[in-house]
Amino acid sequence: MSVLAAARDDVVELMLESPQGTPIRYDLEALCSALDIADPTRVVVEVDGSRRRAIVTIYPSNPLAEMPPPSLSDMLMDRQGRIVVGRYHNGRPARRRMFDPSTGSAVRAMVFGTTGAGKSRTVQYLLACEKRNRVVSWYGDLKGGQSAPEAEGQVDWRATTQEQVILMLRSAVAVAQERQRRYSAAGRNAFLLGRPDPLISVRIDEANRLLERGAPYREEATYLVKELGRTGRSVGIGEELDAQASHLEELGGSDTLRAMLKEGEVTLLRWSSGMMRQLVADGLLPTGDQLMPIPKSLQPRVLRSQFDVLGGDEDDDGPGTQGMGYLLSGPHPTAMMRHFRIGSITPTPGLDPEILALYGDDEPARLEEASQQAAGEAYAARHDPAAMDALFQALQSDQEQQPRTAGGGPSGSPRRSAARMEERIVSALAGADEPLSADDILAAVNADGGREVKIGSVRTTLTALVDSGDVVRAAHGLYAPTSN
Ligand SMILES: Nc1ncnc2c1ncn2[C@@H]1O[C@H](COP(=O)(O)OP(=O)(O)OP(=O)(O)O)[C@@H](O)[C@H]1O
Ligand SMILES: [Mg+2]
Repeated sequence: MSVLAAARDDVVELMLESPQGTPIRYDLEALCSALDIADPTRVVVEVDGSRRRAIVTIYPSNPLAEMPPPSLSDMLMDRQGRIVVGRYHNGRPARRRMFDPSTGSAVRAMVFGTTGAGKSRTVQYLLACEKRNRVVSWYGDLKGGQSAPEAEGQVDWRATTQEQVILMLRSAVAVAQERQRRYSAAGRNAFLLGRPDPLISVRIDEANRLLERGAPYREEATYLVKELGRTGRSVGIGEELDAQASHLEELGGSDTLRAMLKEGEVTLLRWSSGMMRQLVADGLLPTGDQLMPIPKSLQPRVLRSQFDVLGGDEDDDGPGTQGMGYLLSGPHPTAMMRHFRIGSITPTPGLDPEILALYGDDEPARLEEASQQAAGEAYAARHDPAAMDALFQALQSDQEQQPRTAGGGPSGSPRRSAARMEERIVSALAGADEPLSADDILAAVNADGGREVKIGSVRTTLTALVDSGDVVRAAHGLYAPTSN
């Protein structure tokens, strides 16, 4: 193996090259030991695609200890649909994709990190960037709104309970279907940014609370997340999950998310060890690559004899590592990066003025009018807690009236009830002489002697039926059974 070394300002760079046929593998622990380095976050290893060349960078101290706040130009999408979210260890800009103009695709993203790793600040920055780029943000915060209180009024839709998030996801799926219908009617096969519709981004912070075992709406939520991931991409609706998860099984099962992980933008903040194994097993990290774990603080672990005279500050906390992570789907997956400093590091008594300033003073972008009907009652009521409450009740009573089935969880099986609902809708359509609107269908279904249903479930089921080909949209807002 050949080694070339360069150094500047105490930073040492080793350029390694191995003979052909002997791919570079490394063991970070062994490397730190060989270099006698107590703070492993001072070392960064990057290997090129051929696995014949590597750069090992050794810093005198972690280069990301201090981060500047973002500038306005960092927040604006470049021609490739990317924004700058922070810096890599070598000071270069760390970019994340918000949109792919070359294919017209919206982005599916996941941000993982343990508690306090900086997920919600990252979310807050992305929401502010979306606002600045006229993206319609739909944001679910399953910590009751505590994760990003500044987002209130800065996004098109902010949902803060499980029920609101379910309603929001249903609307998002319905909007994706509506856009599909409109685009195909217009003979368009791709989404064009802002022509005429804006990009929509649906983001769920603390997604683990929605999707983990025992979550009240796990089954439906998993279905909706998957459905939105499937249909949203090509009609300009992106999706992001921010989660504290050590295993994909905690997020509604690994199948749901594997595709999102494979093709999406994946950010890994300070993690727990199980997550890492899974990412490697899922092929997200090339075999042989390793990520230097991110410690909670940058204080290197050193040994002190009990006979040493203490200087006084040995036990002080080192600088925190919040916001440090890896952009696994970017060009430098093993290069440690850090997100910009977003807001104040110490808690503020009320809303953080620095975060509010990131959002700017403009009104947030809104869902296009042509899709508002599809977004349904929940969209219209999203700022009205009382009306939303009534919708939650409807949702809950729908769930409670389902018969309990073995293994169906605390609220029965949404799938079984969805199947019954499908039958009722199809027979209502079959019994009519002409195409029906969702409201007509609601009336017909409620007149069939079965239990009462709400317009929201009718719309969700109609969407699924159109998708599966059992029902067709006869004209705008009108449905008919598929003839044959
Ligand atoms: N990019 C950042 N810039 C400045 N401070 C940050 C940044 N990221 C995180 N912090 C600090 O870390 C704290 C925790 O961050 P944050 O709330 O984003 O973490 P989290 O991963 O969402 O945690 P939780 O799991 O508790 O929701 C913040 O209150 C802030 O003090
Ligand atoms: Mg959080």
